[in-house]
Amino acid sequence: MNFKNINIEVIDRDGSLKKSLIEVDIEDNLMEILKAGNYEMRATCGGMGLCADCHCEILSGMDHFPPPTDQEYETLDTLPIIFNNSRLACQIKKGDYLSNTKIRLINPS
Ligand code: FES
Repeated sequence: MNFKNINIEVIDRDGSLKKSLIEVDIEDNLMEILKAGNYEMRATCGGMGLCADCHCEILSGMDHFPPPTDQEYETLDTLPIIFNNSRLACQIKKGDYLSNTKIRLINPS
């Protein structure tokens, strides 16, 4: 199996800043990576980009991220509060751009 470590800073939903080195499978998306790092992820839709339980704000490193999918835009548009750099973690595929980024987890509505 092919594994890689992702070094990421996460502001958890309680406001605490955590630095995590998470070992991930090559196929993981950011939501699965966060789950692997023991961050709570309800993920009601199972990672289909429909529930927004994995809503997060990308605080640094966003320039290197792939653009949101149409499904991601559609779901984000339904939320009562979004931010300039709001993303759905399940729609962000694993990539080198995830290392050394900083994200903030948003409480699901
Ligand atoms: S887990 Fe449902 S939108 Fe990401």
